[in-house]
Amino acid sequence: MHGAFTENDLSHVIAADKAHVWHHLVQHKPFETSDPRIIVEGKGMRVWDQNGKEWLDAVSGAVWTVNVGYGRESIAKAIYDQLMKVNYFAQAAGSIPGAIYAEKLIEKMPGMSRVYYVSSGSEANEKAFKMIRQIAHKKYGGVKTKILYRDRDYHGSTIAALSAGGQHERNAQYGPFAPDFISVPHCMEYRKHELGLEHLSGREFGIAAANLIEDVILREGPETVGALCLEPVTAGGGVITPPEGYWERVQEICKKYDILLHIDEVVCGVGRTGKWFGYQHYGIKPDFVTMAKGVASGYAAIACMVTTEEVFDMFKDDASDPMNYFRDISTFGGCTAGPAAALENMRIIEDENLLENCTIMGERMMKNLHALKEKHTVIGDVRGKGLFLGLELVTDRDTRDPVDEALAQKVVSEAGNHGVLIGVTNRSVPDRNNTLCFSPALIITAEDVDQITDAVDKALTTVFG
Ligand SMILES: Cc1ncc(COP(=O)(O)O)c(C=O)c1O
Repeated sequence: MHGAFTENDLSHVIAADKAHVWHHLVQHKPFETSDPRIIVEGKGMRVWDQNGKEWLDAVSGAVWTVNVGYGRESIAKAIYDQLMKVNYFAQAAGSIPGAIYAEKLIEKMPGMSRVYYVSSGSEANEKAFKMIRQIAHKKYGGVKTKILYRDRDYHGSTIAALSAGGQHERNAQYGPFAPDFISVPHCMEYRKHELGLEHLSGREFGIAAANLIEDVILREGPETVGALCLEPVTAGGGVITPPEGYWERVQEICKKYDILLHIDEVVCGVGRTGKWFGYQHYGIKPDFVTMAKGVASGYAAIACMVTTEEVFDMFKDDASDPMNYFRDISTFGGCTAGPAAALENMRIIEDENLLENCTIMGERMMKNLHALKEKHTVIGDVRGKGLFLGLELVTDRDTRDPVDEALAQKVVSEAGNHGVLIGVTNRSVPDRNNTLCFSPALIITAEDVDQITDAVDKALTTVFG
């Protein structure tokens, strides 16, 4: 056992967990006869569970979060030092790490200028939605309130974030939802037949997929559409990289109809794709950028909603009107541990050249995954950017029918038998929980990459022959 707990300590921990903890996104019935996994310790790329079993974590804390790896003493120390100075004061006032982190973050985001601190990705997205609605009231007579979201994208777990959610297995049974959230089609080339665009490919497909958004805007009436909210690369919906030409056209459409562009970087943000932000691969000029998971790599709960000076100005243009500002507060947006951790997280990424490592190791992993595709016919598509990759599993490469999700989950558990934690799209899009997901920490080495893809190779052989 790597850690400090004794056998006895842990049997009590497991009993307490089974008696009282409600785990996230998990059916608990199996825990009546088996134990939940309890992660006891982490170091670098690896974690240890209650049985002392070592796991190479290919998914950064299961949900693409721990970008700089586990056991970072310097982040723990930065948090400790800040907490001993002052742990909290409501964000109506400022803090030293809050000001310095905002300055450093904005240096990485040309064109953006204001940071609003909150404590989760869902919350960051809600803040943008509220601003968009308030702008509709201030500037457009309360008419331009609709927020477009894309099929297969996810923006969080709260009711408003689910209202903007394109994953029906996350949404089902939680309605009724908030009004004026309107869905637009996905842009996945591998499944272009679902869009009626099977005759197009490459750039032509990308532009046509973006034009499907324009069709929705015209159907709804451009004067009613306030914003378009998109993930730069769709995460839990299947690791969907955008087709060539797509983003350029999306930007044009937003400009044409005076629609604000909200990019959800909760997963892609802070290095995951090899640039600071996913949108920076595509030359996009967003109006809102939200980020969470990698901001402090899970060492503290911090998320940010970042916007432009132009948007910010709209909320202070008439100081004589007591309603003319953003009347919103997030209690834990004032926790100083968040920006203190985020500052050190950013220093680590810069000093250790982790963006470069992400690109190089991402290319190696992509190459390995393509080699697996040569060998395993069950792999229909390989997608990804940087260290954010997916393998879509199908029963037949021609029909592209998805494998049974139980089999995709079996691959995950078989990879676990080889000591590697991988992910799979989970209660996401009906009949599409068939994409294996990889998002290792940005510190990954070539040996770790090969260990992950070797484990996937063995797991695929065990499950599919
Ligand atoms: C793209 C995206 N946006 C938003 C969220 C919600 O973030 P949180 O769970 O921190 O509320 C997630 C969570 O997985 C996500 O993947």
